[in-house]
Amino acid sequence: MTAHSIRPMSTTAVLILAAGRGTRLRSRLPKVLHRAGGDTLLGHVLGAARGAGFAAADIAVVAGFGAEQVRAALGAPAGAPQVIVQEPQLGTGHAVQVAAGWWRDYERLVVLNGDMPLLSAATVAALAGDGGVDDAAASEAAAVLATASPAEPRPYGRIIRHAAHPERVLAIVEDRQATPEQAQIRELNAGFYSFRTSTLGLALARLGRDNPHGEYYLTDVVALLAGAGEVVAALPLIDPDECLGVNDRAELAQLDRRLRRRKAAQLMAAGVSLENPETIDVDAGATAGMDTVIEPGVRLLGTTKIGENCRIGAGSILTDCELGDGVVVRPYSVLESARVEAGAQIGPFSRLRPGAVIGAAAHVGNFVEVKNTRLGARSKANHLTYLGDATVGEDTNIGAGAITCNYDGNHKHPTQIGSGSFVGSNATLVAPVTVGDGAFIAAASVITEDVPADALAVGRGRQQNKPGWAARRRRR
Ligand code: UD1
Ligand code: MG
Repeated sequence: MTAHSIRPMSTTAVLILAAGRGTRLRSRLPKVLHRAGGDTLLGHVLGAARGAGFAAADIAVVAGFGAEQVRAALGAPAGAPQVIVQEPQLGTGHAVQVAAGWWRDYERLVVLNGDMPLLSAATVAALAGDGGVDDAAASEAAAVLATASPAEPRPYGRIIRHAAHPERVLAIVEDRQATPEQAQIRELNAGFYSFRTSTLGLALARLGRDNPHGEYYLTDVVALLAGAGEVVAALPLIDPDECLGVNDRAELAQLDRRLRRRKAAQLMAAGVSLENPETIDVDAGATAGMDTVIEPGVRLLGTTKIGENCRIGAGSILTDCELGDGVVVRPYSVLESARVEAGAQIGPFSRLRPGAVIGAAAHVGNFVEVKNTRLGARSKANHLTYLGDATVGEDTNIGAGAITCNYDGNHKHPTQIGSGSFVGSNATLVAPVTVGDGAFIAAASVITEDVPADALAVGRGRQQNKPGWAARRRRR
């Protein structure tokens, strides 16, 4: 099997069917853009195709309902698979036919239902002819179908095999057209196929729509091919859940849990400890290094990348973050698009917003918000602080309640604080302003002018004590 390698010649293409609406989801979003396990359903299927070695140029997506949303979700045209619009949507056979101009020049076409996020790269590779079915059979076969025999019944197409040559498939009978006898067949059509394109084109042209939905069924191609004497082979899936689909929000939630469980198992196998793993959500694109411990209720979302030997405290949510080795995030911290360097400590109850960069061994404590700010190595902002659009040097202490006033109502302004400085509690730094290295700002100062290196800045009203005043007030 050559999964995970780039295939040398583009003789095989992948077509993903994603034009259906998914009526039972009751949504304005097309079914394939609903999310489970931290990616869209379509994203997972695409991931399987990419994982089998297919380049974007050899993958196309048939979209219909919400086609523009699908196009937008796939991203910039360069490097994204082509979107082919099927309008109206007259069935899975029609969807493949509408794309014929795109796949005609390939030798083989892999067709994947776009709503099955558990599909593996290995199955796509096997359908493409890289193992699974023996190569002679695969190259001889006009079609290869992935099939599944799950323990529980599903309303899927039933696989009808040749009585004398059971290795040959004769037809797929859709659930609603199955006779009571056919309905007993446990081998089901998974919804993943590969076809020789020359014969596929001829068979598609002969499809009818005489069925309860009045649609052109891709599955009817099988009987047409077999009837013309072509070989149709089956590829039984070891894991029948690879073709678990989504019809409503309850099934979406179940699939989400499954994908999360699978991801959790992968992380644990790679040496990450998950405490109470069923309470932890790790998106498909997130990773963590060896000996990192993830406490209950944590969510690692998007492209979050965590180093080795870290600890992520209970209830913390990290989105698109990068953490070095040995970072500790204490409970209930919320981090988004932030970078935290080795050995830094965050939380409990910290908030790192986009553009926060926390230097090595620095500390960010409770009720501290950091946005678009670099806090240098070993610097500390431990309590009740807001740092926005600031640069803080190394070994600087930011006292409790210190605030950068970065916004004047119209514009954002920068604050620069040097290394080895001390910003007293409740200091208010009105940006733009610069505090030099080694400077000292007295508590509760309002700093509106630059502070030179090594200076003391005091900017507050002087205290007055009025002897006996309080006692006189009480007597009144
Ligand atoms: C299909 C198969 C069935 C199989 C099952 C596995 C057919 C006729 N039946 O049924 O044998 O067991 O998948 O789940 O194919 N789509 C389009 N354009 C259309 C219609 C559908 O692109 O006009 C897309 C859908 O978005 C979906 C995929 O094709 O991603 C499958 O369509 P769906 O309606 O879900 O087919 P099933 O009824 O599940
Ligand atoms: Mg379906």
